[in-house]
Amino acid sequence: MADARFLYEDHELTFPVVEGTESDAAVDISALRGKTGLVTLDRGFANTAEGQSAITYINGEEGILRYRGYPIEQLAEKSSFLEVAYLLQYGELPTKAELDEYEESITRHTLLREDVKHLFEAFPHTAHPMQILASATSALATYYPDALDPMDRESVDLGSRRLIAKTPTMVAWSYKYRVHQPYVYPDNNLDYASNFLRMMFSVPAEEYLADRVIAQALNMLLILHADHGQNCSSSAVRLVGSGHANLFSSIAAGIHALSGPLHGGANQAVLEMLHQIVKSGDDLDTVIKRAKDKEDPFRLMGFGHRVYKNFDPRARIIKKAAEEVLTSLGVDDPLLDLAMQLEEVALSDDYFVERKLYPNVDFYSGIIYRAMGFPTDMFTVLFALGRLPGWIAQWRELLGDPAAKIFRPRQLYSGADTRDYVAIDDR
Ligand code: SDX
Repeated sequence: MADARFLYEDHELTFPVVEGTESDAAVDISALRGKTGLVTLDRGFANTAEGQSAITYINGEEGILRYRGYPIEQLAEKSSFLEVAYLLQYGELPTKAELDEYEESITRHTLLREDVKHLFEAFPHTAHPMQILASATSALATYYPDALDPMDRESVDLGSRRLIAKTPTMVAWSYKYRVHQPYVYPDNNLDYASNFLRMMFSVPAEEYLADRVIAQALNMLLILHADHGQNCSSSAVRLVGSGHANLFSSIAAGIHALSGPLHGGANQAVLEMLHQIVKSGDDLDTVIKRAKDKEDPFRLMGFGHRVYKNFDPRARIIKKAAEEVLTSLGVDDPLLDLAMQLEEVALSDDYFVERKLYPNVDFYSGIIYRAMGFPTDMFTVLFALGRLPGWIAQWRELLGDPAAKIFRPRQLYSGADTRDYVAIDDR
């Protein structure tokens, strides 16, 4: 592709243009500061790529999402979460033998050390599960010194498998602690989703068999959340990893980033918003009016996206699944009807149409999680459970890239000019 040419003062500068697999391309400005003394200003990195990635392709204009080239619609329908976890990290769909080995290795690592219980029990019962999960994930680094070297493939493989295996157990045990119920241990005879559901919802006093509909829906939801390119939390994982911090510390940073209501915390915020709308008795026109009012901090949570300027393909799949799962479970949730009506009113309003604000992955997911029996404050933890293999894949890709550099963005200083210190009695 032809170079990009910039005119600055009386200089004409050329920069190479790097072409991606699809129609995307990037101008490489690595030499910009050296040539001109300028740095770029790009809030939220909306126009900036830190590097190249081969993991996930998103076309926001057309609403396309692919993991390692495979369309999300096909993976959601035909794959399993552990197969997608393998695909994201190793780049290819596993053979049967490879998948069997991978699943077996995950199954063999689902147990937590008994002393991890003290960590959960150090929290108040009202602690938010995202705070507990981030702390427990960091703590894993203290139990596994053999899985801390980010430059050793075996150590990284071991740490990755331990994290994917133990996170469902940590999530379930933190829930059991918060609801004052006994911990339920993993059952190695169960698949990933069923094992997690059993640890979450079974009690020692009675038999529990995970509902197939719920287990299949959870498997699909985990796949849909598994990766999404350089989103806020994946960028946090990469940034922390760029300093060669260990995998557990880097993933803990991703969990914290995901907890924000503008990011993964939105699935919880959507349910709280729907409940608030019902409680307020506001009609939908009033709700939409508030969402458009710049003076009003209210936003239509679950709507809008930095990249998708079309329907988020995941939202389309989840919306269909919400109707199917609720029907199959015999759940008639008025909040689903309200969400659909809200979507309809918003998408016929110029404000949303002009800004290309569509439902995103968080708009309908909470409706399904609620029907499955999860408390609202666990929805973002479920997002984290799904996103874990993507975070790991992004971290591994960066650490495995010989051209990777520590993340150290520039700034444009706009503070005070130089000045002398003034003694306190003279201020
Ligand atoms: C996720 O990046 C990823 O890939 C993330 C994610 C993933 O898989 O990792 O997809 C998961 O985080 C999905 C997003 C979940 N967040 C929400 O649903 C929160 C509500 N959405 C917004 O806060 C917002 O849309 C963002 C944060 C998602 C995107 O923000 P941007 O890209 O910075 O866009 P913006 O805030 O500049 O909005 C552009 C315009 C603004 O209006 P104007 O100044 O042009 O007049 O659209 C308006 C915004 O005010 N706007 C909204 C809105 N979202 C944007 N107005 C009302 N309600 C909204 N939800």
